[in-house]
Parts: sequence; C-alpha cells; structure tokens
Amino acid sequence: MPKRRPVAKRAAAAAPGGPGPVRVTRRVHFNAAHRLYNPAFGKDWNRRQYGPCANPNSHGHNYVVEVTVSGRPDPDSGFTFDLGKLKRILQRSVVDPCDHRNLNEDVPFLKGVIPTAENLAVAFWAEIAPRIRTGRLHCVRLYETPRNFVEYFGPETDPE
Ligand code: NI
Repeated sequence: MPKRRPVAKRAAAAAPGGPGPVRVTRRVHFNAAHRLYNPAFGKDWNRRQYGPCANPNSHGHNYVVEVTVSGRPDPDSGFTFDLGKLKRILQRSVVDPCDHRNLNEDVPFLKGVIPTAENLAVAFWAEIAPRIRTGRLHCVRLYETPRNFVEYFGPETDPE
C-alpha cells in the first residue's frame, strides 16, 4: 500500500497558511436553585418583570453549560485544548461551587448578581477565562431549560 501522510498534515499542506482554528466544546451540568429579584425595585415591579421566578422561596433548574475554546491544534498533540483538562477546569470553576446550591446565597462569585441566565454566563466566563492558557475562550452557552439558552462571547475589547 502507498504510504499516506496523516490527514492533518495533508489538510495543512492544502491550505497555504496552514489550518485555521478548531473549536472544541465541553458540556457540564449542575442543579441549582435561584430567585430572580432586584432589590432596587418593589415587589410589584419584580412580579411584573419575573413572574413566578420572583417567588420568595426560590425554584430550581437543571442547568447545562457548554464551553467552547478556540485555537489552532498543537502540531505535536493535535489538540486545540485538552478536553480532560477543560473538564477539570469546568468542574472546579462552575460545577463544584454551584451544584446543589442556592445561586442567590451560596456562591461567592455570584454575590450581588441577579442570577438570570445572562448574568450567570457572564460570571462563569470570568471564572473560566483566566484558566484557559492555550487557545482562547470562545463561548459560554448556558441552558436554563432545554428550550431556553443564552450565549456569551466575552467582554467588549477596546478598539485599538
Ligand atoms: Ni428560574
């Protein structure tokens, strides 16, 4: 049989600048309680804004978080980012602090945050991003229910 070059090398050879970025994603889940309530406003405003999500004694969700890292695969390992490592980072930065907790009360990095899906995605980004040292954090997608999800692509960067 003729000797064949590995697929990645052939693909790289086909593109003059080498291969572009490849995004890798890890999904984790956790269960938590929350209450949507903005203490700057009264009961009626909160009831209008959040409906039953403002109920005083909280309610729960099965949250799903998908975190995507983007980068060029390392020529030696073939990995954009080691998914085993990403699993451990998400366990430490999101699952351990949030699983089976009340997000309004129990999570230090959510102190003072109204735990909407949007705000959670932004807060999770801030916890995860400093731990991604190869490639870059591309997206935090958070499902609050199977049909409702938000995506966050990171802070605005200053125009140069
Ligand atoms: Ni809710």
